[in-house]
Formats: sequence, C-alpha cells, structure tokens
Amino acid sequence: MKQEILLRVENLNKVFTIGSIFSRVRIRAVNNVNFEIGNSEIFTLAGESGSGKTTVAKIILGFLEPTSGKILYKGKDISELQKDRAKDLLRKEVQAVFQNPFETFNPLRRVSNYLMETVKNFGISERPEEVIESALNLVGLTWNEVKDKYPSEFSGGQLQRISIARSLLTNPTLLVADEPVSMVDASLRMSIVNLFKDLKEKRGVSVLYITHDLATAYYVSDRIAIMFRGEIVEIGSVEKVLMDPKHPYTMLLKESIPEPDPKKKWTKDIKILTLEEEEYQMKGCKFISRCPYRMEKCKNPVPDVEVDDRLVKCYLYT
Ligand SMILES: Nc1ncnc2c1ncn2[C@@H]1O[C@H](COP(=O)(O)OP(=O)(O)OP(=O)(O)O)[C@@H](O)[C@H]1O
Ligand SMILES: [Mg+2]
Repeated sequence: MKQEILLRVENLNKVFTIGSIFSRVRIRAVNNVNFEIGNSEIFTLAGESGSGKTTVAKIILGFLEPTSGKILYKGKDISELQKDRAKDLLRKEVQAVFQNPFETFNPLRRVSNYLMETVKNFGISERPEEVIESALNLVGLTWNEVKDKYPSEFSGGQLQRISIARSLLTNPTLLVADEPVSMVDASLRMSIVNLFKDLKEKRGVSVLYITHDLATAYYVSDRIAIMFRGEIVEIGSVEKVLMDPKHPYTMLLKESIPEPDPKKKWTKDIKILTLEEEEYQMKGCKFISRCPYRMEKCKNPVPDVEVDDRLVKCYLYT
C-alpha cells in the first residue's frame, strides 16, 4: 500500500493567540504534526472537537499560515508554489469539499451557474456542458436533473454530491474533505464516502478525509491519524488503528466520547481558557488527566513509538 507520496505534512505547528495583552491565551491548535498522503490513498484525520483537524486542512489549502513547519505537495513547499505560476495548478489539483453544502451555494443562484462559473474560472471553456455532465455522472447525477434548479430544490446529500462534482471539474489530484458527511442524513453518508472510494479507484484521486465518524472512516480509509489536542497520538493503517487501538485515547474514542457534565456548562468557557494556557505550557502527554494508565513519566515529552505497524505517542510502549 506504500505508494509514492503526494502530500507531506512536516513538523506542522499552529499557535493561535486570543484575548488582550493583559489576558493573553495561547492555543496550540496543531502541535508538531507529521503525516503523508500517498497517490490514490484515502487518509483520515479523526479526533474530538477542537483537536486541530480543520486547522490542518486550512493550512494545506493555503487559507491559514502555519506558525512553523511545512507542507510539501509533490515534493515542493506549498508556500513557494503559492507564490509563482504554479499557484493556478495547485488550485486546480487540490480541491476542498466543505461540511455544509448549503453554505457552498448561494440560495438565490441556480446551481448550474456555479458549475459554469467554475468551468470558466479554470479556463476549461471547451464544451463546458459536456465537462459538467461527465463530472455530474461521476457523482451519480446528470446535467438535466441539475441545470434549472436552485440549491433549496436538492437534499443535503444531493447538494453535497453536486459540490463534489464541482470540485471534480478541475480534475483534482487531492480532495480535502472536512466533515463532508456530517450534514448529510446518516442513510446517505455511505453513498458520499463510496464516491471517494470510486474516485480513488477509478481516477487515482487521493482524499484527506476529516471526520468524527469512525464507521465511515473505517470503511473508506487506507490509513488514519487520530488527533488529540493538536497532536497525532496514533497513526497507521485503519485496520490496525481502529480494530486494535494502542493509544488509550484511541481506545476511548472507539468506545465513544462521554458528554461533558451539563450542570457545569455555565463555567465551560472560563475553564477552557485556563486549560488552554495551561496546556500550552504542558510538555508531556495532553491526555494525562483522562488516561487510566498514566504514569509519572507521562509529564515528560512523549516519543512516537512504533508498535505493531503503527506509531503511538505513549509511554506504555517504550
Ligand atoms: N481562528 C482561530 N482563532 C483562535 N483559535 C482558533 C481559531 N481556529 C481554531 N482555533 C482553536 O484551535 C483549536 C483547534 O480547532 P479546529 O477547528 O482545528 O478543531 P477541529 O478538530 O476541526 O474541531 P471540530 O471537530 O469541532 O471541527 C480549537 O481549540 C479552536 O478553538
Ligand atoms: Mg473542524
């Protein structure tokens, strides 16, 4: 399964600073993250809310600057690629699929306008209708079904398909899909992720699939990285990581995450802020307070340990 590398994320860090100079709070949204995505590979980033998944995606898409570290696309630094003429190529080859298809499309414009516009913007002006038809066919739709309609005339699942079709117009190599199924009815989720599988198998497209949903992640991914508080705590084949998790957090995630105590809700914001500054200072394992196996040495920086064909950030295996 080890193919040529398409995208490499190297020592990526993103620190956000919020508040005034008097009460400054720093958040390590992404903390020394490393992973790679191969050609025609589906790679999943999973982890609870706030673990840094979207921040990683935004940096890859060039919407955010990293604090440090870099992203190599086909071996070249994307911050360099974004500067010169390669920018247009990058915009074509790396396409985003967003969470909410209803936000992707303006409700007052026909969906077909968007498709036509994308075709024009990317200079694919020859026989635009045919290009659109074939992209729509890939997602199980036709130009006739779509062309006269407004976004509200489609279901969430259909609209997400159309937004995927739109991203396919440029013949992308990599789709960055941040929670693409979370707004879609559970019954239709599989059909969307199946599309990714199809695109991978038939057209060699790679996908960075970001999700909370481990069931679809297990079904479509080749490899998976589990994020916790900005760090990858476990990374490897989806089979190994999800069927036989080694990191205590992955084990917990598989058992599903407990809800926070609703009675304490009103103090939540204040608590999170202190926690974040505290966490910023933390050198050791971020999972320590919730970990049933914690040890004294977990307060020290934790190495990535190779265990049974995957990497685990945990002292249990050293
Ligand atoms: N623009 C910003 N300014 C300040 N903090 C931010 C900003 N964007 C994200 N964060 C913080 O960075 C951390 C990671 O956020 P991110 O959105 O990447 O998480 P996520 O894993 O995508 O979560 P979710 O599953 O809820 O989408 C969170 O603590 C978040 O509050
Ligand atoms: Mg997110």
